[in-house]
Amino acid sequence: MARPAYHILNGPNLNLLGRREPELYGHTSFEAYWPRLQARFPEADLHYFQSNGEGALIDKLHEWGFSSHGLVLNAGAYTHTSLALADAIAAIASPVVEVHLSNVFARETFRRHSYLSAHCAGLIAGMGLKGYELALRYLMDEPD
Ligand code: DQA
Repeated sequence: MARPAYHILNGPNLNLLGRREPELYGHTSFEAYWPRLQARFPEADLHYFQSNGEGALIDKLHEWGFSSHGLVLNAGAYTHTSLALADAIAAIASPVVEVHLSNVFARETFRRHSYLSAHCAGLIAGMGLKGYELALRYLMDEPD
């Protein structure tokens, strides 16, 4: 039987993880973390996509969002600006968990507002790369 598919989407500037403001976002690149994350979920079929473009992220939400068992989205700064991404999350059928590496509530005020959260199953912030694993565990778990 096919393994259930889960999808991770990273937005702008997250291609620079490990090099970008490491005091905020850590020293590990997503590429280095990805095989470790996959190894933690051998029972799942995990997919990953990163783009710096809003349209490309929306296209992926459309492509994956009707068949995925669940999506994990770190939309970077688009979180705080993008009605179009919010509409795309509202439009798709698969659940989305919003993830931020940093604790956005402990930073500048403009980072405290997310256009996306209202359309997401939940939000994880401030737990670094661990947030992706926690989001996947939530999506894979049976409801309590
Ligand atoms: C971020 C938080 C955003 O405010 C910021 O623009 C990012 C990264 C995070 O993962 O902490 O690019 O989404």
